Amino acid sequence: MKVYVPMDSAAKALGAEEVVAALQEAAPEAQVIRTGTRGMIWLEPLVEVEIDGIRHGFGPATPVDAAAILDGSSAKALGPVDDLDWMKRQTRLTFARVGVIDPLSMDDYEAHGGLAGLKRALTMTGQQIVDEVKTSGLRGRGGAGFPTGIKWQTVHDSDAPQKYIVCNADEGDSGTFADRMIMEGDPFTLIEGMAIAGLGVGATKGYVYLRSEYPDAIAVMTRAVEIARAEGVLGENILGSPHSFDMEIRKGAGAYVCGEETSLLNSLEGKRGVVRAKPPLPALEGFLGRPTVVNNVISLATVPVIFEKGAEHHASFGIGKSRGTITLQIAGNVARGGLFETGFGVTLGEVIDDLAGGTATGRPFKAVQVGGPLGAYMPRSKFDAPMGYEEFGAEGGLIGHAGLVVFDDTADMLGMARFAMEFCAVESCGKCTPCRIGAVRGVETIDRIARGDADAVTILTDLCETMTDGSLCALGGFTPYPVMSALTHFPDEFSTTKEAAE
Ligand code: NAI
Ligand code: SF4
Repeated sequence: MKVYVPMDSAAKALGAEEVVAALQEAAPEAQVIRTGTRGMIWLEPLVEVEIDGIRHGFGPATPVDAAAILDGSSAKALGPVDDLDWMKRQTRLTFARVGVIDPLSMDDYEAHGGLAGLKRALTMTGQQIVDEVKTSGLRGRGGAGFPTGIKWQTVHDSDAPQKYIVCNADEGDSGTFADRMIMEGDPFTLIEGMAIAGLGVGATKGYVYLRSEYPDAIAVMTRAVEIARAEGVLGENILGSPHSFDMEIRKGAGAYVCGEETSLLNSLEGKRGVVRAKPPLPALEGFLGRPTVVNNVISLATVPVIFEKGAEHHASFGIGKSRGTITLQIAGNVARGGLFETGFGVTLGEVIDDLAGGTATGRPFKAVQVGGPLGAYMPRSKFDAPMGYEEFGAEGGLIGHAGLVVFDDTADMLGMARFAMEFCAVESCGKCTPCRIGAVRGVETIDRIARGDADAVTILTDLCETMTDGSLCALGGFTPYPVMSALTHFPDEFSTTKEAAE
């Protein structure tokens, strides 16, 4: 009997290891295979039992459920996992294998389409590879949405004795976990994507800058690199070709700003994680001053499927200039939280009311912060906003890394605005004045509003404008999004305390 249990850190945090121990005790002959998570976090630990080649789900499982799960009598039976609404409604391109395969089995990976993209890329020239990525319409999934093919073209066209591929795995946005989930659930897809990027731009060396708060992802990625090297996917003459590409995992030290590409590069070089002025772009002068592709995990992990199924297949999903799929990470006060991959264009209302099932508390929805701690708070009046970079931007939102954190009507929006400024003050690298000093003044100004000083609202608005226009990077430049969206959509919360004081 084959039994599948995730080894993803979300499942572990919810008791997956204890469930595995109980399953093994109840049926020592059962073959327990560890996988990534399917992304239905409210059902974790989700145990899957294979019956006639079909995987049946049971969850959320506890150790006492083990015997009943194995004999099929458990009340936690969910039916075939692929038939569950959450799974059936998705378009899984990037996450197709996550939760399905054993993350560290190269055989399993290949049996599910792995390496097909790299094999195809090995028959192409660097320019053809770059053109394929351009045709796919892939845009940077870390948050900025810059066209990946254009970034690769800049590196491809630059003349240098050494070029690099750097994967930004410093996933610091609150409520996001897509990078972690893919690194723990399908690490070879990231390795394959980086190798294809290397072939495309002429880079022979890659680094994954992985945050230290992700010990499981670090362990899985480190082992996956060793396996890939042993299997000839990395190293010299990859898959028997004349091309070489190798990579290393480097651990970050926990600064939010090291997710910004230039401070990441400084940190990778062993320097303090301070933002560098752009230009020069990292694509021209990046790691150790050499042309460097810096891409997010999801951008690179989407590359293999583009080469496996063709650029047009990827481009056939989405809306407007947002092609392919968005990997929604649904968190906060929701009935159903997890990862949902679907074509760009799904509306905010569909995600929160329908997919997430509203709030976990059952209280009325109040706001959702989309795009991490620098993202705007969106009220219910924005529920028709389609999730595409331009479309969502036109509604005052920011898709960012596609994390959504939901709040019910008990949320204190003035407190949220204060938290955004405080977060910026704590995490600021200190290089530029609007952020370093502005964020501290922002906290003080919001405290004045809380004490009932109406004039401070104008000062806060002016301060936000200065931070937006004058900050060197997104940390200072985007902090006004949560602050101003809270002020715009929930103005009463910035004035009631004043009235009370009067
Ligand atoms: P950006 O707009 O300055 O740059 C986007 C990317 O395009 C960069 O890699 C830049 O070097 C590159 N680029 C621009 N012009 C180019 C050219 N002509 N050729 C080659 N490359 C070119 O945005 P930035 O500062 O890199 O990222 C900001 C975003 O990061 C925000 O939208 C925010 O959502 C997101 N973010 C994500 C976090 C996460 O945890 N994933 C955390 C914090 C922010
Ligand atoms: Fe540093 Fe803040 Fe300026 Fe960014 S905006 S460079 S984090 S001081």
